[in-house]
Amino acid sequence: MSTDSKPLQSSAVINEAVQTLRDGGLVAFPTETVYGLGADAKNPAAIKKVFSTKGRPANHPLIVHLAAPNKFDQTQVDWIPVLAPWARHVSEDALKLINAFWPGPLTLVFKKDKSVLNDLTGGQDTVAIRAPAHPMAQELLRKFKGGVVAPSANRFGKVSPTSAADVRNEFEDTLDLMILDGGDCEVGIESTIVDMSSGDQAVLLRPGVITPKEIFTKTGIKVLQPGELSLATAENAEPTPRVSGSLRAHYAPTTPLRLYAPGRVLDALSEFPDTKSRVAVAVWDSESSLGEDGHPSVHFEEVEVPSDSGEFASRLYRSLRDLDQQGWDLILFPEPPSGEEWDGVRDRLQRACFGSGPSSSSHDSN
Ligand code: TXA
Ligand code: MG
Repeated sequence: MSTDSKPLQSSAVINEAVQTLRDGGLVAFPTETVYGLGADAKNPAAIKKVFSTKGRPANHPLIVHLAAPNKFDQTQVDWIPVLAPWARHVSEDALKLINAFWPGPLTLVFKKDKSVLNDLTGGQDTVAIRAPAHPMAQELLRKFKGGVVAPSANRFGKVSPTSAADVRNEFEDTLDLMILDGGDCEVGIESTIVDMSSGDQAVLLRPGVITPKEIFTKTGIKVLQPGELSLATAENAEPTPRVSGSLRAHYAPTTPLRLYAPGRVLDALSEFPDTKSRVAVAVWDSESSLGEDGHPSVHFEEVEVPSDSGEFASRLYRSLRDLDQQGWDLILFPEPPSGEEWDGVRDRLQRACFGSGPSSSSHDSN
């Protein structure tokens, strides 16, 4: 799972992490998507600590992470007993999705069992659940023998971490945080979220690398985009933010970030005063060079980004974090092409643009 040379930590370290969770502590752990900031889903004080450590408003619900039953590489396993303590009803379609994609980067939203703490659902009557595929996450969950809430291990509104070092940088001043190192995350952006709580209708809440097209191909289930929902669905009017990724500003670097249309790098500069002098320009690896004559007061430097959507996703947050550290005045990324396979990264990039810049921490991120 890891692309790094380093890897798996000893079972003694995992046991210590399990004990930390049982004691109500926080454990950051790798998943195949991004690193999560984990806590015992049955411990209200631990859940509170997750919210305060992230600086996340309490009405933003968390995902419960569960261990896959038996050996997690088995193809057909019985998920019903695993889900029963959490979800009130698991429809046949939901089971199809689970059998096709778990463990993996797909989160499903169900009507919650009444024992599920309101602290983690932000007071909603639904709960989001996923079984991550990363072997270290699975080992932790199996040994813990319970649900672990885990938002991405970043401060609210900021870029999600895809390595243990990212988590360390993010929470330098949080002394009592245990961090498990499982190498670099392979998927690189957060899980796809599909709402199954209405029972008979699957609705996409957050795009990710598992697309509605892939879901349809593997299961025959048609996943609606939120806009395709009929007005009869009252959730649209709900005041609670159901997906924090639905905020316009999210996943944001401190350096201003903008997208440019093909061949229009200079246009993207127009909204910036010409005091901007150092600009990092991400270019597709299929392109040789920008080939622009430049701009009198601007120094451009090119950074290659993959033209494959999966590889792009895998490296997106790494690139944003690295570029953010390098002291550029502006970062430009190419607009992703159309096509469902790009929806996840397009969504993250657009929100990252909106929230980027030095004052972004106070910007709309709540
Ligand atoms: O890939 C991922 O999903 C990562 C890894 C760590 O598992 N986790 C993650 O968690 O992205 P977080 O908290 O950063 O984002 C989870 C999203 C939130 O935006 C939240 O609003 C949404 O899931 N969510 C949680 N419970 C929900 C519910 N009951 N209904 C709708 N959305 C929900
Ligand atoms: Mg997050």
